[in-house]
Amino acid sequence: MKLIISFQKTPKTKADTAVIGISQKNIMSGAAEKINEKNGEFISHHLKKQNKFKGKKGQFLTISAPKESDYTRFILVGYGDQDLLDQNSYEILGGKLFSILSVAGCERAHFFADNEIQAAHVTMGLKLRSYKFDKYKSRHLDDDTGSDLRSFEVVTEAHTKARHSFETLGSIAEGMFLARDLVNEPPNELYPDSFAKIIKEQLEPLGIEIDVFDEKKMLKLGFHAALAVGMGSSRLPRIVVMRWNGTGKTAKGKKKTTPLAFVGKGVTFDTGGLNIKPSGGMEEMKLDMGGAAAVVGLMKSLALRQSKSDVVGIVGLVENMPSHNAYRPSDIIQSLSGKTIEVMNTDAEGRLVLADCLTYIQRTYKPRLVIDLATLTGAMMMALGYDYCGTFVNKDDLWAQLESASKESGEKLWRMPLDEVFKKDMVSKIADVQSLGNMGRYAGACTAAGFLEHFIEDDRPWAHLDIAGTAWIKSDKPTCVKPATGFGVRVLDRFIAAHYES
Ligand code: BES
Ligand code: MN
Ligand code: ZN
Repeated sequence: MKLIISFQKTPKTKADTAVIGISQKNIMSGAAEKINEKNGEFISHHLKKQNKFKGKKGQFLTISAPKESDYTRFILVGYGDQDLLDQNSYEILGGKLFSILSVAGCERAHFFADNEIQAAHVTMGLKLRSYKFDKYKSRHLDDDTGSDLRSFEVVTEAHTKARHSFETLGSIAEGMFLARDLVNEPPNELYPDSFAKIIKEQLEPLGIEIDVFDEKKMLKLGFHAALAVGMGSSRLPRIVVMRWNGTGKTAKGKKKTTPLAFVGKGVTFDTGGLNIKPSGGMEEMKLDMGGAAAVVGLMKSLALRQSKSDVVGIVGLVENMPSHNAYRPSDIIQSLSGKTIEVMNTDAEGRLVLADCLTYIQRTYKPRLVIDLATLTGAMMMALGYDYCGTFVNKDDLWAQLESASKESGEKLWRMPLDEVFKKDMVSKIADVQSLGNMGRYAGACTAAGFLEHFIEDDRPWAHLDIAGTAWIKSDKPTCVKPATGFGVRVLDRFIAAHYES
């Protein structure tokens, strides 16, 4: 059941729950006061009779409504001092509100909001939390439970502005949901060819141009590094190129603009290959296409909100398997760039796929900058855990733009070092580059970035986001496969909106 969200000046539909905001010391907003009056001061009486709920930020209180009321219940949201609340705090409250509405069994809610930011961002937090991945549950379709939140009507004086802000936020959320869906798909269902088909199905109707290269086309073009990684699997590799021309300047007769380029690692399952991973934890490697999922989700968000930007995306889709056909540690491969790569370990596969994608996108589109996203190294998780995404950038001004987009979106980026030391460490004795550094696992995230730097051409502005930690939600249950976040879509959407739209 899809959640229907709307913004109105006065309620348009019936609801079982009224959600009202209370500031510190139980001060009611104008909207809350009206509901209170309409219900014979029921809420203020209730508040006086108790002393636990004080309208502090993050406090919630559910009260059953009196029998004369149109509502079944009131849910009070504590805002604390509203002057201290920013977009992010409203989204956190919105997320909590969703859980509380669900526990209460609410199906239809009116949310009385005081202003545009509150209205739009509480709703965004709620929408992001409402995400579910239950397609593999046999009884997921509108069945016995029947108690899911179906409608969330935001009632506010600022309804026009709030609706407008939420158009953008809603598009971002839809892109994030697509990224999450892709990561959450099991690898027997999502493999390179099926992934490519989903991209076509999802994005083509939105006006995004798609090219899919099968293994023959990849061979013809010279994607030998990406092909090498996929050789061990019977699921053959694919490359998907996506183009969004939002400036309208690529129409016939007009000069082409230089696009922004986004590159995603799409290893649909990473067993490690012949350097096979240990048994415990291998199941988590279905997330190894999180970078590709973020690029696809980003393209969807841009198209949904009709972004006035020109963007190309490329994803390298492969499965890394051990077999008699698999590539070997010590193989030397000629990448698309012409540079030869000495394979030190078949589990360092993502960088090989990215190398060819980086070369292709740069040589074909001469983009003004290129940003790649990849669940590239366990070392990145060791360094920064689940909340910060390690970001390697070769230009300070590009970093400044990414940092401000990070602050706006709430997706946290942390700058990591790109240094000649790491780049040099990746020079091989017998080939042009080697796939592991001489320091072994030490500085593993940095040497991986140093490897990629060998494939950046013409001093092009470039950022590499290692999303190994941030692609999924941290969980206290170590044995379950953790759910996806869709990380990357939101920060990059804001990055484009702030600096690259006409
Ligand atoms: N996909 C993994 C990185 C990874 C690990 C992502 C854990 C998310 C969680 C990558 O392909 C990999 O296996 N990296 C190796 C590199 C090593 C062989 C240099 C690693 O991190 O151990
Ligand atoms: Mn690997
Ligand atoms: Zn991998």
